[in-house]
Order: sequence, then C-alpha cells, then structure tokens
Amino acid sequence: MDSSDFSNRHEEDEDIRAFREDDPDVYEFVLKVLDGTCDKPTLQTFKDDYGKEFLNGILKIILGKASSKDIEAFREKYSEEIYNAIIKMMQKRNAAIEGIPESVPKREKFRKGDFIGQKYEVFGVLGEGAFGIVYLVYSHETKETYALKTFQEEYLEDVSTRERFKKEAQVWIDIERHPYLVRAYFVEEISGRLYIAMEHIAPDNEGLNTLEGYLRRRPPDLAQTLRWAIQFCHGMEHAYSKGIKAHRDIKPANIMIGQDKAVKISDFGLAGIIGTPKSFSGIKINPLRAISGEAYQTMAGSAFGTPPYMPPEQFENAAGCDERSDIYSFGIVLYQMASGGKLPFLPDMSEKKGADVFRYWYMLHCKASVPKLKSPLSPIIFRCLEKKPINRYFSFKELRRDFETLLKKQTGEVVKLPGKMELEAWELVNKGTSLRRLGKPQEAIACYNKALEINPKCAEAWNNKGVALGSLGKEQEAIACYDKAIEINPRDADAWNNKGDALRSLGKYQEAIACCDNAIEINPRDADAWNNKGIALGGLGKYQDEIACYDKAIEINHREAVAWYNKGNALGKLGKEQEAIACYNNVLEINPIDADAWNNKGNAFRKLGKEQEAIACYDRAIEIDPRDAKTWYNKGNALGRLGKEQEAIACHNNVLEINPRDADAWYGKALVEDKIGRGEDAVFSYKRFIELASAQYAEQIEYARKRLRELGER
Ligand SMILES: Nc1ncnc2c1ncn2[C@@H]1O[C@H](COP(=O)(O)OP(=O)(O)O)[C@@H](O)[C@H]1O
Ligand SMILES: [Mg+2]
Repeated sequence: MDSSDFSNRHEEDEDIRAFREDDPDVYEFVLKVLDGTCDKPTLQTFKDDYGKEFLNGILKIILGKASSKDIEAFREKYSEEIYNAIIKMMQKRNAAIEGIPESVPKREKFRKGDFIGQKYEVFGVLGEGAFGIVYLVYSHETKETYALKTFQEEYLEDVSTRERFKKEAQVWIDIERHPYLVRAYFVEEISGRLYIAMEHIAPDNEGLNTLEGYLRRRPPDLAQTLRWAIQFCHGMEHAYSKGIKAHRDIKPANIMIGQDKAVKISDFGLAGIIGTPKSFSGIKINPLRAISGEAYQTMAGSAFGTPPYMPPEQFENAAGCDERSDIYSFGIVLYQMASGGKLPFLPDMSEKKGADVFRYWYMLHCKASVPKLKSPLSPIIFRCLEKKPINRYFSFKELRRDFETLLKKQTGEVVKLPGKMELEAWELVNKGTSLRRLGKPQEAIACYNKALEINPKCAEAWNNKGVALGSLGKEQEAIACYDKAIEINPRDADAWNNKGDALRSLGKYQEAIACCDNAIEINPRDADAWNNKGIALGGLGKYQDEIACYDKAIEINHREAVAWYNKGNALGKLGKEQEAIACYNNVLEINPIDADAWNNKGNAFRKLGKEQEAIACYDRAIEIDPRDAKTWYNKGNALGRLGKEQEAIACHNNVLEINPRDADAWYGKALVEDKIGRGEDAVFSYKRFIELASAQYAEQIEYARKRLRELGER
C-alpha cells in the first residue's frame, strides 16, 4: 500500500486533517513510517530537522513501545494534537490492514457466533444502552462468560478521552469484589474500540435483572424497597472507600438485581468521562421510553448523566459532583420505588423540544418542589432531594441508618452485610493474568498463590503461575505447576502446551514433542500446539517435519503470522531462501511492522548474495526498531561485503552503543578495520572481542589471536 492509497481510502478525520495542515512535514513522515516507505534519507532528514528526541518519540508511539510516561512526556513536550492524530492514523492503518471496511456502521451489531477480537465469542445481546450494546460473551482465553459493554465510537472519539476513560474504568476494576456491586474485570481496546468486561448478572425467570425492569413490571413493596436501599448504601459506601468520587449516573437501569434478589450497582466511573460527540446537538428524545426517564440519557457541555436523575449541581459542573450528588439521584430512584415507578418531575413534552429540554430539566431540579408522597419513606426522600447538597444526607452511611431504623420498625428485620467476602479463586487468577500482561510476573504469582490457597484444585491458577515463573526463567518450577494442572485435569491442553514449551526451552526436545502431541490429541486444531511441536522438531534438526507442523498451523489459520515466520526460518535452515522470503512476505502482509521478519528476510537475501536487497530490508527493520542490535550488525556485515567499510563500521558502532558487550559486533568491526588498514583500531577491537567472546567462538578467537600476533601484538 503506498501512501496515497492510505490517505485516499479513508474519509479524513478532523484531528488528522488539522495535523496534515498544521504540520505537513511531520504528517508526511508519520505516513511514511506507517506505510513502511520511510527510507534512510527521510529518517535522517527528519532527525536533522526535528531532533532525535522527537523522532524517537514518534517511532516509539508507532511501534507501541512508548510507556505511559513516554506518552505523557511526548504530549507535554510536543503536542496533544499530534499525539492524538498519530494514534488515529495508526488505527486507520490497522483497520486497513485488517480489512475492516472504512464505513463501519456506527452501531455495529455482533451476532451469536461472531467474535469480538480474537477471544470473545458472542452469545447474545443483553441489552442496549445509550452508548452501546452489552453482549453476553465467552472468553476463549479465560474460559469465562462476561457481560461485555461496548461503546459507540462517537462517544469516545478522541484519544485523551479514551485514556481518561480507561483510567476511570480501572477505578471500577480496582474496587474488586463486593456483594452489592457489579464486578468489572477489565477494560480492553480492540481494533480501536473500548470494551469493559463485567460480571454477568443473569435475569430471573421473568427476565428481570434491573430495578428499571422491576419498576415497570413489579414495583417493590416497602420492605423490599428498604432492603434494596440498605444494600445499595452498603455498595456505595464500599465504592467510595475504594476511591470512587461520585458515580454520577445512578438510575434504575444501573441498579441491577441478581437472581438472589440482591442489589448490584453498575457502571461506576463511566459517566462524566464520555465526551460530547461532535455530531451531537441537543437532546434526542424517544417519547416511547420517556416514562422511565431512560430516553433522556444524554449530555451537554461538561454535564453528563441522565437528566431525570441529575442533581442541580451536575447540570452546572459534573466534575464537582460528590457523594451528595449521588444521594440526590438515589432520592429520585427512591421516589419511584415509593410511588410505583413515577418520577417526581416530568417536563411538559408538548411545550418544549430539542435542546431546550436539557435546560428544562435543569430548571425542574433547581426550582420544582417534590410532589407529596404517602409513604413512610417520604421524609427520607425529601431530604435526599434537597436542592442544595449541604441540606442533604452527607453520606450513604448516614442515609443507611435511617433505612435500617425504618425497616426494623416495619418488619423487625435487620439486613446484614455478608462478611467481607474473599475474592474467589478465579477472580484472583483473572487479576493475576492482567498483572502478568502488564509485565508484573511477581505480583501475578502472588495472586495465583492466593487463589491456590482458596482453591488448590484451580488448574487455571497453576497454569498461569507456571507461565509467570517461565517468564522469570524458572522453567523447572513452571513445569511443576503444569504438572499440577495436568494432575487436576489430564485433558488440559493448555497445560500440555505450556509444559512442552518449557521443556523445549530446556533443550528437552523429545519430551517437549510428547507434550505437544498430547495437546494435539486433545484438540487437533490447536495452532499453538502445532507451532510448539514444530519448534521442538527444529531443535532436533528435523526440518521437514518441522515445516509440516507449521503447515498444519497455517491450514488451521491462514493468518497465523507466527507459523509463517517459523516456516520461513525452517526453510532458511534448509537453504530454501526464495521460499523463506515468500513466507516472510506473508508475515509482513499480516503485520508490516514485524521487525524480525524484515531482518530475517534481509538475511535470506544475503544468503542469495543480494546485499542491496538485504540492506533495504535491514533498513525497514531499523526504522521500525532503531535499537535492534542484531539488525545493525547484519547491515554492517552486508555493507562490509559491498566494500562500504566506513558505513559498515558506523553500523557496528551503533550495535556497540546499544550493547557495548556485543562480541559479534567487536569482531565484525575488527575485521573491517583490519581490512582497511586501521591497525590500531583493529587491535583494540580484536582484543575486546576476545575478552567478551564465549567458547563457541573458538574459531574466531583463534583468528583474532593470529591477527593480533601479525599486527605485532601479543
Ligand atoms: N452486567 C450485566 N449483566 C447482564 N445484563 C446487563 C449487564 N449490564 C448491562 N446489562 C443489560 O444491558 C442493558 C444496557 O446497559 P447499559 O449500556 O449500561 O445501558 P443503561 O444502563 O442505560 O441501561 C441493561 O439495561 C441491561 O439489561
Ligand atoms: Mg448501565
């Protein structure tokens, strides 16, 4: 794909257009890097014009190697806008690569059997909210079901909103388990969309699982209202204690009721973050849904929430909301519970329309008096619905006391909070797994250990613990974990696969192959198992058999880049360079910024004696990852062969800048220096090489010694 192709095929985004117009040179450069058409002179020119730091910043972002600190620094030092535009360009590029049509319908709907990303299989639609659809999915990774909440793109348009959103969602995730809160497990970005995986609250046999549904079909009596109210308070108290400042969208649809008839509060941290979509103007009302108030869910300016439930202060400044704002919203919910579902305020729909409705709601909450209610709850509700926060209850704890007193008086009942529940083993496993993905294996292991304390028969915990140990180089301990998992479930294909992988990295190829065969017997379509088996066969020098394994993996999934890559390497070992290059081309079609594939493709060209082509490949790899020492080294050798000694030395120097103890680079550099008569330099380099080289370099060491003698050294 050339760069014109890239820019023409997509309708241009606002941020990208601004970027193109304001910084045409930087824009062009980013485009080239993304398209893989950035050559060395371009890179150099850019570096000269804009400095190394800016260049590295951009490359890091594009290569996904920027830490959050790097990103923060880049945004601060250069510009938020440029950063946003680059991210969007990357998303477009990825979408183009994945073959996603440009005109993704705004409300894309997945159907049963579809996959969201690689791992979430859709089982059905749970419901549709104002911002997206909630699906029931099964994760093939964690082997769990979730309610997966999706967000329509228009609500999370710019990157900073998305980042803020992720942070907020993390606060919800960090609340962990509480009996009265919907558990959020993780937030994930898939193909530029955000998803939150929540605990699935299964509906009862009447299909009810939200207070909204109950209010419509079976409004609660006083005792039930009080029970739910007390549970709600407990949940909110816990959430605040975990750092939630305000929920901001308390309403019956976000108060779920489980099959055990207990409250489960949902959607923490989501309100107030979702930005105003650019296309949005005013409020759209669906009169059919007006009674419950849900049709009004909307936003304007910085205020976000659902207007029928929003306290006056939230219309003015959502960021200033606190616990008392949620108490007001809950006051509206209580009013509905006490009145059979009626809202205290409803705007006169015949008079007002369009954007005015928002203002109208604002006026109602500010000025209208709450209609009288014949309910023992009345005084409590009125205090919740005070216009000024200072006149309301100051905490849910205070509010709960009044409910408890009333319930005791009404029925003699006491609602007890279940003892601080332990996180269940699998929740800990989940947590550990995200920690491991975040590169924190030690913390992950702590989670797995805790899970195993609760449930020593949790095979998932054993498996994951093994993987974490493996990443720390503790293969033997890892194997012991996999054996535990296999003991619990002898048909755990993951455990067999993992064990095979560990054995292979210990050089025990035969045993590794036996493990992979077990995994394959359990699931013949396990591409990972075929890949692992192939690598182990390669270790035994059985390259033909190795290739047959990768072919199996490719047969299972043609876009299995790892298999193509491995196949390319195996063909290379058989001297079939042309075929190897074809394999690397497949990898690069799937993932054009796979630096290793570029490097290996370069090596294949070199073996064919095509140094120029090889250098072009190395340059691509270096553009993608400028700190990849092996590619610099390879390029240095290729240049040396072409008689470009100075450039070759420069490449080797780059390697040594990255890793001063790289024996290969010292040797390569010595040879070139020696060749062009730079005796003194050559002596120094040979000496460094001998110092650093391990026994496997015997032949080179011998040559270096010989040259040192000939050069008058000893
Ligand atoms: N965790 C969950 N488990 C089961 N169903 C859910 C869950 N979360 C949401 N739903 C369903 O999806 C619907 C839409 O949810 P949501 O997007 O939060 O919008 P809203 O809160 O405005 O209803 C809900 O009304 C509910 O029926
Ligand atoms: Mg909701």
